[in-house]
Amino acid sequence: MSNNRVLTGITTTGTPHIGNYLGAIKPAIEASQQPNSESFFFLADYHALIKCHDPERVARSTQEIAATWLALGLDTDKATFYRQTDVPEIPELTWILTCMCSKGLMNRAHAYKASVDANRDGGKEDLDDGITMGLFSYPILMAADILMFNAHKVPVGKDQIQHIEMARDIAGKFNHTYKELFVLPEAQVDEETQLIPGLDGRKMSKSYDNTIPLFCSSDELRTLINRIKTDLREPGEPKDADNSTIFQLFNLFASADESAAMRRQFENGIAWGEAKRELHEFLDAKLSAPRARYNELMNDLGAVEELLLKGAEKARAEAAPLLDQVRIAAGIRPLTYVAPQAEKAEAKKKELTPEELARIEEGRRRAILRPVQHLIDAVAAADDKATAAAALIAQKEQNLEGLKKKAKQKAENELDALRIELGQYL
Ligand code: TRP
Repeated sequence: MSNNRVLTGITTTGTPHIGNYLGAIKPAIEASQQPNSESFFFLADYHALIKCHDPERVARSTQEIAATWLALGLDTDKATFYRQTDVPEIPELTWILTCMCSKGLMNRAHAYKASVDANRDGGKEDLDDGITMGLFSYPILMAADILMFNAHKVPVGKDQIQHIEMARDIAGKFNHTYKELFVLPEAQVDEETQLIPGLDGRKMSKSYDNTIPLFCSSDELRTLINRIKTDLREPGEPKDADNSTIFQLFNLFASADESAAMRRQFENGIAWGEAKRELHEFLDAKLSAPRARYNELMNDLGAVEELLLKGAEKARAEAAPLLDQVRIAAGIRPLTYVAPQAEKAEAKKKELTPEELARIEEGRRRAILRPVQHLIDAVAAADDKATAAAALIAQKEQNLEGLKKKAKQKAENELDALRIELGQYL
């Protein structure tokens, strides 16, 4: 396995917008093209059920997000692209991890605390009013998403950092309790692309209702761009490009030259209407090819479904063997199970020749003696080696008294090794 495995999930509750594209989809697809990385991207449809109880919307969003990533050129031969609910190993791992996760950790989750705060502010007597167990424990499902594939890096928005930290905590608890099976994942937050302005100038986000759907029609795109807020500057008056949503959106898709040319137009007092017209023309040209592919895919959902199922097969080929190990580590085993490691060690011992066994024993003795090598050297350097050797052995024998069981065993092993080592002087 490479040590550059990247994984991220997309909750299937909305229509992909320009903010999603620039902030998450584009960097993820680009990263998946790097030769030394392995990418896992999935539609987090179990997560959708946490916040959305509108089945049509969840189903529609799943279609749209799948088609969007494919339309933008995700190579499913290279990246593993799947739907969470097609990988039953994930919910199974979720339960095992649930039993490794203290309730207190979940009490501290931001999403849960925000809901409790909202209830408090709303004067609700029951602070857990309307909060499902899904919302409460969803960081564990997310930990399972990540740990199931032993991902190293998880690209996420800032609001998700805490969840990655929780995944690390839970992985650490499992590793410590049972066996080192999980990689401790790291969040990867791209500061630069965090701020994509929406129609009203605030961060583009579904919750502000200020988004531009990535693949809306050209006419719809024009209507939305016309809704962008501008100031009262007249045509001919110089305009502040850096504080203009129109310029910022243009800039996000533009080359350095295109961006400089637009900036000059702002300085020269381009009319707002004209600036919007240019932004529309520019974005429309950039988006028209992937939009056409998107529409094709949305009209051929059988093909998309097939790709997702193939992706799930690839994902399960990774997940199932790890889950097997996890179950066994936790004691969920066939009744006839015999630990293969112990079995192998037994078999190996039987096959060794006397010379090999002697070599192993010698190695063991050397390792035991390493911490007292300076004492052995001192004996070898003494004028009266026999007395020095006897004194050292006597001192070590005396030290044995009063030691507890485990420490005593260790000291006895050391003494045995010393007796052999110093035998030549005695
Ligand atoms: N909860 C994430 C979000 O709302 C989506 C998600 C689910 C996710 N599982 C994940 C992201 C695993 C990264 C890794 O954005």
